[in-house]
Order: sequence, then C-alpha cells, then structure tokens
Amino acid sequence: MHWLHSHRGYTVKSIEPAKLESAPGLVRKVADFWTRNVNAERIMGRSVSEHERGSETYFAELETQRYRSHRHLPGWIASMRPGSQVLEIGCGIGLDSARMAQHGLRVTAVDLTVVGPATASRRAHERHLDATYLCSDAEHLPFPDAAFDYVYSFGVMHHAPDTQRCVDEAYRVLRPGGQALIMLYHRHSLNEAVHRMLRVPFEERDELCPVVRRYTVSEIRAMFSRFSKVEVRADFVFGEGYGSLFRWTPLPVYRLLSHWLGWHLMIRATR
Ligand SMILES: C[S@@+](CC[C@H](N)C(=O)[O-])C[C@H]1O[C@@H](n2cnc3c(N)ncnc32)[C@H](O)[C@@H]1O
Repeated sequence: MHWLHSHRGYTVKSIEPAKLESAPGLVRKVADFWTRNVNAERIMGRSVSEHERGSETYFAELETQRYRSHRHLPGWIASMRPGSQVLEIGCGIGLDSARMAQHGLRVTAVDLTVVGPATASRRAHERHLDATYLCSDAEHLPFPDAAFDYVYSFGVMHHAPDTQRCVDEAYRVLRPGGQALIMLYHRHSLNEAVHRMLRVPFEERDELCPVVRRYTVSEIRAMFSRFSKVEVRADFVFGEGYGSLFRWTPLPVYRLLSHWLGWHLMIRATR
C-alpha cells in the first residue's frame, strides 16, 4: 500500500499504482501481482470458493458468481460465430475461454501468469474442451499475422505496461474482417468516482495492482484508429461487490445506469 504526504501536511492513502508508465521489470511485477491475486477467486476480499483451485466445485462456484455478477458477458461470448478461431488474451483461470469452447469456438488462450493457463488447461483436458493455453505476454504474441477470426480480452490490457502495444498486437493477429472484443475500464464511471471518494484501491483491497489504467471513449477511439469499424458502449455500472444495491436495482434502471456510467467499456473493433 502506498501512503503519500499531501501539501496540507496530513497523510492520505494513494489508490493509484506508483508507476503508470512502462519501465524495466514492470511486466514481472504485473505477473507477480496476478499470480498472488488470481482473478475471480475473491470478491471484495472474500473467497468465492473454499474448494481446491481447479476442482469441479471451485469452477462451478466461480462461474456461478461471475455470470450472476457480469450479466453482460454470456451474450457477448455468444455473439461470436461457432467454429471460428478465437484468441483470448489474459484468460486468467479460463472461465470465459471454457464457455467459448462450450459455445463451439476453437480457442487459444494466453495469460502472463503460469497459474492461469495451468489451471485452465487441466480443466480443458478433463472436459475434452477445444482450448489450448499458453503463458505469454500480450505485448509480444507468439502467433503469425492474421491467424484468428476473433481476439477476445476482458479486463486485461489496462493492466499491461503498454496498452497500445497490446491493441496493436490484437490487430496484427486478426484476419482482415476479424473482430476484437475487448473490455477496458471506463474513467467516466460511477466505480471510478466511488473508488476515488472512498480511497479504495482498484482490484484488490490489500495490495496495489501495479498498473490499472482507465480510459475515456475518445481515448479508446484513438487507440483503435487502425481498425475499420469501432463500436464502444459502457456496461456494468456495478456488480455483486456493491451488495444489496446490485441485488435490488431494477434491471431497466441498472441498464440505463450502466449505459451512462458503466465501469466496463465494451469495444467491438473490426479489422
Ligand atoms: C483482471 S484479470 C482478468 C482475467 C480474465 N480475463 C477474467 O476476466 O477473469 C487480468 C489478467 O490479465 C493478465 N495479464 C495482465 N497483463 C498481461 C499481459 N501483458 N499479457 C497477458 N496477460 C496479462 C493477468 O495475468 C490476469 O490474469
């Protein structure tokens, strides 16, 4: 946790990572953070499953929580044409990639950590899913140009030291006409405002994530300017971490708020 002395003399807790710009050793720090904090295993500091990592019950509990909270994800995944080749960048333990394989997509997935692909791979093997997992950096993908029909990446590239380079790599490995489905965090969102007001760090309560960028829609348009068509919409104004507010907000109100102040910028970019 980082503590700063303000100009008024009292101590304030910083919620921003110490270093936002790319620097030697930063990729390793990002990998170490996500190895210690395996995504989807905790929500607001509470474990989603008490079962052994990689077991059937562990996956069942994490999946139930994820899609109950992330209502916008199943439809997004289902919008990809079955039979296509998809690359997932930053798959973590592989919840979405397993869903893609069950939807009939041919999946290749990479993550910076070893624990993510290892956990996902074990499950794919046990369930005979058409999914291959590798440990790799989104800034240097080990694939030839134009190899995939889709590139999918949910909540990943804003954690990379060089987000633009990740977007450029996604463009390179997509075939002409192929689509990138990418989620990046939204700066003009309710979640950003709440975190700033309460001084709660992004991602984890007890450890600062080394890189957490947030973008405006116009910044996204500039980053994706090489693509022939770019659609951006905001979603997910809040999830289960917001407790009864999430449970009791009527769906039409939730959708309206999400569209206006959502934390997730859902980007569909056609090469
Ligand atoms: C917030 S988690 C999201 C994981 C998964 N997409 C999900 O939604 O559960 C961020 C993931 O991105 C991965 N990641 C961060 N930087 C990366 C990079 N440069 N290349 C590949 N993966 C990266 C981390 O290892 C971590 O698993």
